[in-house]
Amino acid sequence: MKALENRIETDGTVLQEGVLKVDKFLTHQVDPVLMEQVGAEFAKLFEKEKITKVVTIEASGIAPAIFTGLHLNVPVIFARKSKSLTMNEELLTAEVYSFTKQITSTISISRKFLSEEDNVLVIDDFLANGQAALGLVDLCRQAGAKVEGIGIVIEKSFQTGRELLIEKGLRVESLARIGSLENQTVTFLEADA
Ligand code: G4P
Ligand code: NA
Ligand code: NA
Repeated sequence: MKALENRIETDGTVLQEGVLKVDKFLTHQVDPVLMEQVGAEFAKLFEKEKITKVVTIEASGIAPAIFTGLHLNVPVIFARKSKSLTMNEELLTAEVYSFTKQITSTISISRKFLSEEDNVLVIDDFLANGQAALGLVDLCRQAGAKVEGIGIVIEKSFQTGRELLIEKGLRVESLARIGSLENQTVTFLEADA
């Protein structure tokens, strides 16, 4: 998605060890105009799949997921990373290991929000090692829901997440694919690479 790549080039900063800072428009301050375009693009990519729910994870997945849900006209569920006081119902839970933070955390969604009737589109802001996305897929499958695919705003293609998800038979659509962050420079993969 050209507008997204342009914004990454203008407002993204490469930090040490392959990390891209995009807090001006995605992970802290959010640009709703750009996020609306992101949502429209995901909705178009998955328009044939009869999506009934969009599933993401707090915090930074929520903005792109909301606009995707708006364009598909379906509810958006975000998995929680810590248990809320009011989550007193049956929960679906999964363990997610973060290579970045080197900790395992438990993510959860209330059982009542997903069923075997659902066709789910999983959305997240970043794809690095794929553990968050796999955790979300796990939650959906526990409920008997079908996962139609995974929509990623920024894929770091030099990490293993995409391969891992494809290996598991999942469809992955990333709006920006970064081949390298070396020399403080963002290099995108070619459109169909
Ligand atoms: P994985 O799910 O692909 O295995 O990711 P990993 O554990 O490596 O990443 C942990 C967190 O860091 C995730 O956010 C992920 O979205 C984010 N992340 C990974 N690579 C980058 C990057 O290059 N730049 C930025 N800005 N973020 C990155 P989180 O901390 O779990 O969630 P949130 O509350 O910030 O959304
Ligand atoms: Na994030
Ligand atoms: Na995220």
